Amino acid sequence: MKKQLRYALLAIITLLFLSFLAACNSSAQSETNGNSNQQPIIVQGPMPIEAEKFAKRLDNVKKETSGTFEFYIGTVDDYPVIVTKTGKGMENTAAATAIAIEKYDPAAIINQGTSGGHDPDLHVFDIVLGKRVTNIGSMKTAHKEDGEGMDPTDWIPMDLMASEGSAGEDPDAENIRYFEGDEDLLAAANAVKEKYTKGEVVEGTIGSADVWNNEVDRIQWFHEKYGTSVEEMEGAAGAQIAKAYDVPFLGIRVLSNNKVNDGEYNPNTAQANQEYVYEVVKEYISTIK
Ligand code: 5AD
Repeated sequence: MKKQLRYALLAIITLLFLSFLAACNSSAQSETNGNSNQQPIIVQGPMPIEAEKFAKRLDNVKKETSGTFEFYIGTVDDYPVIVTKTGKGMENTAAATAIAIEKYDPAAIINQGTSGGHDPDLHVFDIVLGKRVTNIGSMKTAHKEDGEGMDPTDWIPMDLMASEGSAGEDPDAENIRYFEGDEDLLAAANAVKEKYTKGEVVEGTIGSADVWNNEVDRIQWFHEKYGTSVEEMEGAAGAQIAKAYDVPFLGIRVLSNNKVNDGEYNPNTAQANQEYVYEVVKEYISTIK
């Protein structure tokens, strides 16, 4: 009996000691990643050159991965910021956005990186703030019979969120779906635009699809019909998922190329954009802190 009592006491003391250790560990973690009550800001970049420069500027960084998605968890001005390397394209971005929201409960998401110009007045190194983001790959073709060929200029925009019925049959789905950029994020981005000296910073419309358009007539068609300023392969996917969870979202895209005014591809634009987005994040933190 006495022996049993001694074992029970020993077990209780061990348990207490273990929970004390666990508590020390979690408080150390929250110290290195900002106040744990603060919801992080997520900054997404598709390619290594579009995410790693920003990740290097974080303080107290630790890296987590989920599938192929990399999350650099750190702080900026003692506020939690998570840089995500999403990988390229709509599917990667949608998945990385949903995982980030479920895992980290962010206050806001900025999707940033390079893009191709649709507007002839925009040049390589200019930056577009996504007042609107739209999916330029979601379309319904015209009806044509065997042998009648194909004509992309007759294709109709298809809004995947118009109804829960068949998008192919629903005439209400024949609309362009625009996702609005969050007003507070836009305000923060506008407030620091003078700090960017490598080009202009303008508000505009970002078009996204898993397509790289090199046909100038097609680019002009999007520019006129959808009002696109630039194209890329991620923004609308992130915006759609952020909207599903009601998380504030903004796309910020630098032109790395512009086919309509002979703007040659320049990969250094990716770093320039991250430097600007870093200023946007600092400004946004100062407004929500
Ligand atoms: N068209 C499509 N995507 C582009 N990107 C840069 N320029 C363009 C363009 N003209 C970006 C995409 C993707 C990668 C291929 O580069 O967002 O991540």
